[in-house]
Amino acid sequence: MDMCYAIPGKVLDIKDKIVTVDYFGERKRARNEFHDLAPGDYIYAQGGFVIEKVLPDKALGVLESWQEVFSNLREADLRLAERPKNMYEIANSVRQRNTGNACCVHGIVEFSNHCVQDCLYCGIRKSNSSVKRYRMSADEIVSACDYAVNELNFKALVLQSGEDPYYTGEMLCDIIRKVRQVCATLLVVSVGERGVELYKRLYEAGSRGALLRFETANPGLYGKYRPGKILEDRKRLIKSLKELGYLVMTGFLVGLPGQTDEDIINDIDLTGKLGGEIFSFGPFLPHPGTPLNGAARPKLERALETIARARISYPDSKILVTSALETLDKDGARRGLLAGANSLMINVTPDRYQRLYEIYPGRAGTGIMVSKRIESAVALLKSLGRAPSDLGL
Ligand code: 5AD
Repeated sequence: MDMCYAIPGKVLDIKDKIVTVDYFGERKRARNEFHDLAPGDYIYAQGGFVIEKVLPDKALGVLESWQEVFSNLREADLRLAERPKNMYEIANSVRQRNTGNACCVHGIVEFSNHCVQDCLYCGIRKSNSSVKRYRMSADEIVSACDYAVNELNFKALVLQSGEDPYYTGEMLCDIIRKVRQVCATLLVVSVGERGVELYKRLYEAGSRGALLRFETANPGLYGKYRPGKILEDRKRLIKSLKELGYLVMTGFLVGLPGQTDEDIINDIDLTGKLGGEIFSFGPFLPHPGTPLNGAARPKLERALETIARARISYPDSKILVTSALETLDKDGARRGLLAGANSLMINVTPDRYQRLYEIYPGRAGTGIMVSKRIESAVALLKSLGRAPSDLGL
């Protein structure tokens, strides 16, 4: 298997904007807004969206190289999910039965570490004067995306920054339109608490996913760790993103000081209630340049239990292994995938900026060549019987 981590699917059926897609006998649904499709066509889908039509010859070539591998993977996954004995294994088996062995692999470009917010937990908070700040130009962002999609083969990209009003709605729309001109990709925006109007324009410009965590469902903790901010506002914004039609990725921090087990149950609940399609939550890792310097890191088990609980409560969800989990423990990604997670993110920010986007210290993968990181992610998925096919709707 090469470094390919998306499998083309065959269109079986089209009803309005919803197409049914076959992946080696498994049926998924995806929304098609941008392509002229007929049954029999081959496509790449991602996060439940059709993102590219593939020429039959090319698709058949890729499918042929996957065919045998895919059934072996499926069997390996099935074996690992058999006879669950503990909570993690139960969650893994729920994942296997409900979502199969599909795993999304998304890329992330962190284009600015400037931030107007002062969240107590975050290394790039505005008061941390020891951070060297950077902003990527529109051209740099477009070429980073171009490389990730057209050289590295990513089919979904997150564009993330601190909350940085330097980038106006107009600038962000322009970037999105330019990226979409050169890349067939699902574009996810992660730009913080900007207004609904701005998000509406970004949607019109062609982004289809929005990543915005609510951080904690406990209003007291929220107010304490995000000075001057109100949980209700955040929730309202996330709901609006959903209403605008975005694929919503949301979640929270695990292990904030003062967070109880009950809080975590509420956090999982709120992720689902807000209509989050992709659950994104990771361990809180204290940063030396913040007021929470000196707080304890959560135990790996706490992070894994949270994944398992989320999987059991929301059997069909996509649950991300975050780089914070990989940073907490070098075996974190594997353990997370075996406790119910089914989605991975790979950092494709240009090297010179990547180390500056230090929301927490010692981020896993920083300083390692992207090709190496992709290779090890693909090897990990393969060792667990997971296939990087789209998870569908
Ligand atoms: N440890 C782990 N995650 C963090 N984030 C911010 N600071 C930290 C930290 N110290 C997360 C927040 C934010 C996302 C981009 O990074 O949840 O939403």
